[in-house]
Amino acid sequence: MSEAVLSVENLSLRYRVPGGTVAALRNVSLAVRQGEVLGIAGESGCGKSTLAAAMIDLMGANAEVTSGEVRLNGRDILALSPAERRRLRGREIAMVFQDPMTAFSPVLTVGAQLVDFQFNLDGVPGREKWVRARDMLARVGLSDPELAMGRFPHELSGGMRQRAAIAAALLMRPAVLIADEPTTALDVTMEAQIVHLLRELQADYRCAIVIVTHHLGVIAELCDRVAVMYAGVVVEEAPVDALYHDPRHPYTRALLACDPARIEAATGRLPAIGGRLPDLSNLPPGCAFAARCGIATDRCRATPPPCVALGPGRSALCHEVTP
Ligand SMILES: Nc1ncnc2c1ncn2[C@@H]1O[C@H](COP(=O)(O)OP(=O)(O)O)[C@@H](O)[C@H]1O
Ligand SMILES: [Mg+2]
Repeated sequence: MSEAVLSVENLSLRYRVPGGTVAALRNVSLAVRQGEVLGIAGESGCGKSTLAAAMIDLMGANAEVTSGEVRLNGRDILALSPAERRRLRGREIAMVFQDPMTAFSPVLTVGAQLVDFQFNLDGVPGREKWVRARDMLARVGLSDPELAMGRFPHELSGGMRQRAAIAAALLMRPAVLIADEPTTALDVTMEAQIVHLLRELQADYRCAIVIVTHHLGVIAELCDRVAVMYAGVVVEEAPVDALYHDPRHPYTRALLACDPARIEAATGRLPAIGGRLPDLSNLPPGCAFAARCGIATDRCRATPPPCVALGPGRSALCHEVTP
């Protein structure tokens, strides 16, 4: 198997908040190889965006890494100087956010910004950057790319804006594209189109993609492997087919049971996993999922669960799972 392009090793991160800290990531280890699409799933508040931000070194000012490394092509990016980190961003790793307006300034045209995004391409004349930008807009499916170049971001529809944001990320030809809920703000049709586009682009550019989503349908469509997060830890990691056909962690099972795509339309109501996420400022001593888990024992409530290897690329963090 090829080397990991991006890997996270034993990463723990907390946020400082008034009166304490929030344990947003605890000993997270994950890797993504060239050409691979890794999905990160889990309910809201599980630490997915924190992990994505840590991967591209865009954590908030109150975030504190307490252990671990983020390795991009072998280098620990958290140990680099701020200038070195900025150089990597865009050139080797790029990010697409849920709200495409985050990627753009409202006061400049899309075209001017797509040209600026290529600041890392030393020696490429401005005219050529403009052509690259226009061609990339065509590639991501804007029907009149020349016209779109002259528009302001708010003059594009939500779906078109997200396509333009993806174009912006790809213009740097990054080795890794991180996408945090890139389809969550879109309607179902638009979501399907963006997923289709990402799949095509991945085939064309062979970049690694890390996609964060609470939508399991998106994961099934797009990903090779999935990491399921709960309360700041990866509770299960598996190839995508294995995860869907034979989920092992009780949390993964509960998530799949709530997936709207798997539920009879006739029930007309979305089930949710009973109970709530634990307080990340005051975690229980044992398994963080124990309070909501149907098979939890006293041991689960008292002792942190072990990581159980379940075969190639498969593991689950659970006392009750057996290999
Ligand atoms: N800047 C921040 N300051 C304090 N707490 C934060 C901050 N960002 C996220 N959190 C908290 O960290 C936890 C993980 O959040 P997040 O990574 O956004 O999860 P997800 O993307 O899975 O919804 C949540 O409890 C959230 O409230
Ligand atoms: Mg998030």
